Amino acid sequence: SLCHLDGEYLPLRDAKVSVLDRGFIFGDGIYEVVPVYEGRLFCFDEHMGRLERSLDELRIPNPHDRGGWRTIAERLIEASERSPSQSLYIQITRGVAIRDHAMPAGLIPTVFVMLNPLKPVADKARAEGVACVTAEEFRWQKAHIKSTSLLGAVLARQISVEAGAAETLMFRGELLSEASSSNVWVIRDGAVAGPVPDHRVLRGIRYGLLQRLCESRGIPFALRDITRDEVFAADELLISSATKEIVPVTRLDGRPVGKGVPGPIYQALYAAYQDAKQ
Ligand code: PDD
Repeated sequence: SLCHLDGEYLPLRDAKVSVLDRGFIFGDGIYEVVPVYEGRLFCFDEHMGRLERSLDELRIPNPHDRGGWRTIAERLIEASERSPSQSLYIQITRGVAIRDHAMPAGLIPTVFVMLNPLKPVADKARAEGVACVTAEEFRWQKAHIKSTSLLGAVLARQISVEAGAAETLMFRGELLSEASSSNVWVIRDGAVAGPVPDHRVLRGIRYGLLQRLCESRGIPFALRDITRDEVFAADELLISSATKEIVPVTRLDGRPVGKGVPGPIYQALYAAYQDAKQ
């Protein structure tokens, strides 16, 4: 399939980057994953806002304005074999330089964009929910940056793989942060709560989306500190991401969550989410 690399459109297999790229050497870059439904970018402006904030944090100049990014995305969508759901991957690294930890001045950022088919979450997971496990937070203190340095996420995800589970929920002390590549939502007495999106958490684009969906359905929604006890006492648990939308978690560390089946708030929010995609 076609991808975009530094201003050119070319087959993915022909796209090559220097071994001195700081993305390869240091993981010195940021990325975004944007859902595309029926050829339409979903929550594109929100994703662009986060991309701009991540670049600012790393002091990498933004190679394109929003219109420029949209043009690249739309050309790839146009050239793609259309599937109902696709995901756009955008990566920007600081660029190519002789290896030195210090940020070299004046580098040209490396831009890579690809479009992939998005496999929908399995029917079984939607019908029965998924299992998750918990771990102590061991990632870094700047989780709000959507960095391509993803070793912490890889190690965290593997814990769940080896436990036969879908995701690893992490706790910093007694407080919930997030999962390896998704945010976590706790539902109790009909109200949805998520961790405050500070440096401990990547502020998922679904933070804003779920808040809007809750407001439209009259479901109370709050961002606050959430303890381990609250997570284990939840009526329902959800994980969210660009690629998973929202998925019910019905087992945690081998114990059932609430009644152990996807609950009414999940059902209501999932229906609202599908409406929002139209
Ligand atoms: N991951 N937290 C982490 C650590 C993530 O990596 C992600 C997304 C999220 C959810 O953010 P959003 O709702 O904007 O997708 C939360 C993407 C999908 C990935 O790494 O592939």
